Amino acid sequence: MCTSVKNPLMHGSNRSHLARCLVLCTAFILAGCGGSSSDNNPGNGAANLAPGQDDEPVPENTRFNTATNFSVTREPGPRLPEPEEILELTDVEFNRGLPAAVLQTPDGLDTSINQPPFFENLQNLEVLAGDTIEVVYQPQDPDGELPGMFPEKLPQGAQFVDNFDGSKTFTWQPLQMDVGINRFTVTAVDAADQRYRSSQSILIKVVLPEDSSTIPNVAPMLDTILAHTVRVNDPVVFELKGIDLNGTVPTIEIPDLPAMASVEQDPRFNEIYVLKVVPTTVGEFTIDVLVRDSVDPGLFVTEQVSFNVLAPSAFDRPGTALRALAQNRDIDIGFAALQSFYHRPDGALYADTAAREFSIVTPENSMKMDHINPQPGRYQFAATDNLVSFARQYGMRIHGHPLIWYRQLPAWVEATQPQDREGLMRDYITNIMSRYQSDITLWDVVNEPLSDNGGFRDSVWFEAMGERYIDLALQQARRVDPSATLLINEFDIAFAGPKFDALLQLVDNLQARQIPLDGIGFQLHLFADFDQFDELASHFAAIAARGLDIYITELDVSLSANTTLSTQADVYQQIATICLQQSRCRALQMWGLTDQYSFRSNFDPLPFDRAYQAKPAYRALQQALENSR
Ligand code: XIL
Repeated sequence: MCTSVKNPLMHGSNRSHLARCLVLCTAFILAGCGGSSSDNNPGNGAANLAPGQDDEPVPENTRFNTATNFSVTREPGPRLPEPEEILELTDVEFNRGLPAAVLQTPDGLDTSINQPPFFENLQNLEVLAGDTIEVVYQPQDPDGELPGMFPEKLPQGAQFVDNFDGSKTFTWQPLQMDVGINRFTVTAVDAADQRYRSSQSILIKVVLPEDSSTIPNVAPMLDTILAHTVRVNDPVVFELKGIDLNGTVPTIEIPDLPAMASVEQDPRFNEIYVLKVVPTTVGEFTIDVLVRDSVDPGLFVTEQVSFNVLAPSAFDRPGTALRALAQNRDIDIGFAALQSFYHRPDGALYADTAAREFSIVTPENSMKMDHINPQPGRYQFAATDNLVSFARQYGMRIHGHPLIWYRQLPAWVEATQPQDREGLMRDYITNIMSRYQSDITLWDVVNEPLSDNGGFRDSVWFEAMGERYIDLALQQARRVDPSATLLINEFDIAFAGPKFDALLQLVDNLQARQIPLDGIGFQLHLFADFDQFDELASHFAAIAARGLDIYITELDVSLSANTTLSTQADVYQQIATICLQQSRCRALQMWGLTDQYSFRSNFDPLPFDRAYQAKPAYRALQQALENSR
C-alpha cells in the first residue's frame, strides 16, 4: 500500500491544496505504512477536506470534443494515477513467493472423486528489461487426464505457444514499460468438467539493466480504436494514443489531414493526440496515422482509423420518441451516460439520440468515489459538471449515483481507520450533494447494501458503523437537501428470495425509526430468459404499500442461450408495462444507451445497437408506453 502512493503531494503545486492535503495525506501515509497508532490519524474531528478553488474544472478547447450545444470543461491539474496504477504489486508480495492457486469448484462437483488440475514447478521470476524469459506450463491432474489451459492476459509482445505434448511455452521479452512487478496468470481446466479450474499466477519482477542501451528499441504503436458509425456533418473526435513499450512517448502525425480537420496533443495526457474532423459526405473513411518513435525518428509505423459516415435519415426511427411517449404517461425514461461520451468518435450521435429519447440521465461512473474524490481533498468534477450542462441543455432530470457504495472506492478510503469513516462519509455526502444541489434532486444515497443471502453486505462503511451507516447516510442526505428524493438502490430484488425479504425488513426498520427514505431503486440487470414478472409486480406493490416510490434504475436485458432480439424486446415490454401499471413507479432507466458502450456489451443488452439503430426492444418500449393503460 505505502510504496504505491507514489507521491501524494505531486499535485500540490498550489498552496491551498498542499495545506489541505498535508493533514490527511500524512495520516494516510502513516496508516498505509502500518502506523497503527490512532494518534497518527485525524480522528472523527478531522477537518472536512472540502473541494477548493483549485479543484474547479477549466473550459476545454472545442477541438477536443464533439459537443456543439453544451459546455465542456476538463480537470485543471495534471493527470492523477488511475486506480489500477495505485494498486501496483510491490516487493513485499514478490518476496512472499508464488501466489496460491485460485480454485473454481462448480456446485455439486464431488471432490472426493475428481481432484482439481494444478501446475508444478512454477516460481516467481526476476528478469532484466531486454532479456527474454521462457516458462513451460504443464498442468497435471491427479486423476490422470490431461488438463487444458489458457492464459488470462498476455503482456504486449508475449507469446503462449502450444508444444503439442500437453505443455505450452510462455515467451516474453519485457521492456522499459514493464519495469516493476507483473502478474501473469494461467488457468488449468479439468478435462472431465470444464468449470473445474485452477488459476495460477507467477510474479515477474522486471528490473532495468545498468546499461539500458542494451535494451532493443521497438517500434511504437497506436492503441486500438473501435470501428464507429457517425452522422454526416457531425463533429467526430478520435483520441489517438501512442504506445511505446520502451516507455517513451511517441509522436503522432496525420500525413494527409482532411480539410478542416485538426490534430493536437491533449493538454493533460501527452501520449494522446486528438484528431477532430467533420465529415461532409457519406461513405467509409480511412485516415492514416503515423506513430513515430521519439528516440529514433526513422522508426515509425503507419496505422489506420476507419469510420462509416451515414446520412441523417439512416438514424430516423418510426413512431414517437420514447421521451414524448413517457411524458404523456407521467413517468421519466432515461439512461446511464457513458463517462465523457463527448470524447468518443460518435459522441455527437450519442448526445443527439439521448436528447431525443430520454428525459432523465444517470452518470454511469463519473460520480463514483474513486473518480470524483481520488485522493484526500482532491476532486475531479469535470465529467459530472459536463453531464449536468448536457442535461440542462436538453431539459433532462439527473439521477445522482451513487453516494455510498462498497465498490469503486479510492485506495485512500480503504486505508482509513474505521473510527474516521463516519465523519468522512458525512462530509463526502455534504460535499457532493451540495455542489449539485440545484441540478440533482434524486439520489441513490446507499447503493447495494444487501448481500445475496439477505445479510448486510460487507464494506468499509459497514465495517466501521455496522448497519447504522445506512441511517446515517440517509439522515445526512436529508439534512443537506431536505427536498431531494432519497433512494436505496439494489440488484437481484426482482424475484423472490432472501434478498428481497431482507430489503423489506430494512425498509420496515428504517420507517419504524423515521429514518428518511423516499424510494427504492430496482437495478434490473436481467437476462432475456427472465420470466418472473409476477414476482416483480408484487415486489413493486410491496414497496408502494409502504408509501415509497419505485425507480427502475439500471435496466438492461442481456441476450443468453436460446434467446433472440424478440425475446429481449418482450422482456423490455413487460417490464415497462409493469412499471406503468404501478402508479408509484416513477422512472424507467436503462443502464446505458447503445450496445457499443454497455458494461455488458458482449451480451448486447440495450435498445440501440452499435450503429445507433433501434432494436426490437426500442419498438417494444414504444408499444408499452402507447398501450397498457
Ligand atoms: C458499472 C459500470 O457500468 C461499469 O462501467 C463500471 O466498470 C462498474 O460499474 N450496479 C451499479 C452500477 O450500481 O454503478 C454498476 O455500474 C453496475 C452495477
